[in-house]
Amino acid sequence: MKYTGALLAIAASAAAHPGGHKPKPQADADGKYTLTAPGIKAQFIPYAATLTNLFVKDKNGVETDIVLGYDNTSYYAVDPGHPVYNAIPGRYVNRIGNGTYTLDGVTYHTEKNDGPNTLHSGTNNWSYRVWNVTDVSDTSITFSIKDPSNSSLGMIGDVEASVTYSVSKNKWSIVIDAKSPQKRTPLMLTQHTYFQLDAFKNPANRTIWNHTLYAPEAKRVLKADQNALPTGEIAKVPKKDIDDFWSKPHQLGFASGNSNFENHCGGGCHGYNGAWAFNDKRNKKDVALTLSSAFSGIKAELTTDQDAVVLYTCNWNDGKTEFKSTQGIVGQDKFIPRDGCIAIEAQDYVDGINHPEWGRLDEQITGPGDKYHWASSWEFGTI
Ligand SMILES: *[C@@H]1O[C@H](CO)[C@@H](O)[C@H](O)[C@H]1NC(C)=O
Ligand SMILES: *[C@@H]1O[C@H](CO)[C@@H](O)[C@H](O)[C@H]1NC(C)=O
Ligand SMILES: *[C@@H]1O[C@H](CO)[C@@H](O)[C@H](O)[C@H]1NC(C)=O
Ligand SMILES: *[C@@H]1O[C@H](CO)[C@@H](O)[C@H](O)[C@H]1NC(C)=O
Ligand SMILES: *[C@@H]1O[C@H](CO)[C@@H](O)[C@H](O)[C@H]1NC(C)=O
Ligand SMILES: *[C@@H]1O[C@H](CO)[C@@H](O)[C@H](O)[C@H]1NC(C)=O
Ligand SMILES: *[C@@H]1O[C@H](CO)[C@@H](O)[C@H](O)[C@H]1NC(C)=O
Repeated sequence: MKYTGALLAIAASAAAHPGGHKPKPQADADGKYTLTAPGIKAQFIPYAATLTNLFVKDKNGVETDIVLGYDNTSYYAVDPGHPVYNAIPGRYVNRIGNGTYTLDGVTYHTEKNDGPNTLHSGTNNWSYRVWNVTDVSDTSITFSIKDPSNSSLGMIGDVEASVTYSVSKNKWSIVIDAKSPQKRTPLMLTQHTYFQLDAFKNPANRTIWNHTLYAPEAKRVLKADQNALPTGEIAKVPKKDIDDFWSKPHQLGFASGNSNFENHCGGGCHGYNGAWAFNDKRNKKDVALTLSSAFSGIKAELTTDQDAVVLYTCNWNDGKTEFKSTQGIVGQDKFIPRDGCIAIEAQDYVDGINHPEWGRLDEQITGPGDKYHWASSWEFGTI
């Protein structure tokens, strides 16, 4: 309702300036900026450069909000669980082993906020800051951040970054640029999007296990320990293995009967929370991964210039968090069950700064004169 009102307000003010230039879109009463193009409507807030809602059409042509989030935009900043809902964490995403890395002969200690390791650069990560809106139109918005040296513990040198989200017919595009003019520093970014292509409307099941994943370019995994930290081993994924989504499309729960499904993503974590490496020789303009659901009929195709992807099937959801009023079935409860979503994060190899043998340092260390660039897009359709 508020969304419609804001759009009408924008339309009215545009009409009030005949011949003059159209005023820039404003945030609505909830602080959301809305981008629209045929077949897609995406909404964002400056907090953590977050995507709050993403509407695409299901197989019946019904607008469906396929990402997780909260109705209350003020809640993102205070939620103690802080799941990094559709935000940009940084400056170095995912884990840093033992909260330690060595760069140019100096050993740095980062904040251990995930057992013995650092996750998403610690508790002052970029997903906890209010970004600046530096450009906005009806189809595009740019958020920017200045990250002072050492504001995430052990991350040295000022970094400036921006993310531009844009929409075009059935497509959401994401481009991140960053630079570190003073010092060489670990820099590895992602868009941490959580999907539920049925928008919790399947009356029979709210879990993600019946979603289908096909990732023909993801034939290797980074083996990980009980804290989801890579051990250093990069293994080929055999056909029919629990991690095989490359040989053919598989439902995410296809291996749930296997004895190794429990604890597959660390102690107490079942399903997936790991990183797959894409084939080195792939065409980066080709679709790297497709997520789909037979229930809604929606499919989402990822194209990315990144060399790996992290998949997390929401094991830690405790069943106490509610989904949005744009989702679910009227009259039913709104609780998200364990395994109720999947986060898909295109990025570089997890903890590559501690594995020089992988040869990822050029991608993961940015310094004076370097330009960090990240680009991905999601194209939506029906199966
Ligand atoms: C939204 O969340 C904020 C922060 O928790 C809270 O103060 C406010 O009361 C909430 N608003 C509604 C309508 O629930
Ligand atoms: C882990 O980090 C601590 C400092 O936080 C350091 O003293 C210790 O040597 C590190 N251990 C390893 C195995 O690198
Ligand atoms: C990001 O920082 C916030 C606090 O600033 C913290 O609560 C949260 O756990 C951090 N996120 C991750 C995933 O480390
Ligand atoms: C937003 O811009 C202001 C003014 O330039 C700056 O002081 C502030 O640090 C910026 N915020 C972020 C998150 O970079
Ligand atoms: C980073 O900040 C911590 C305190 O928050 C301080 O102990 C450390 O010396 C700082 N590191 C550098 C390189 O400035
Ligand atoms: C999930 O998929 C299985 C086949 O793999 C099917 O038997 C089951 O009915 C599906 N469940 C729902 C809720 O769609
Ligand atoms: C949902 O489907 C999964 C996988 O098919 C199954 O393990 C689970 O028990 C189902 N949940 C409900 C509530 O039916």
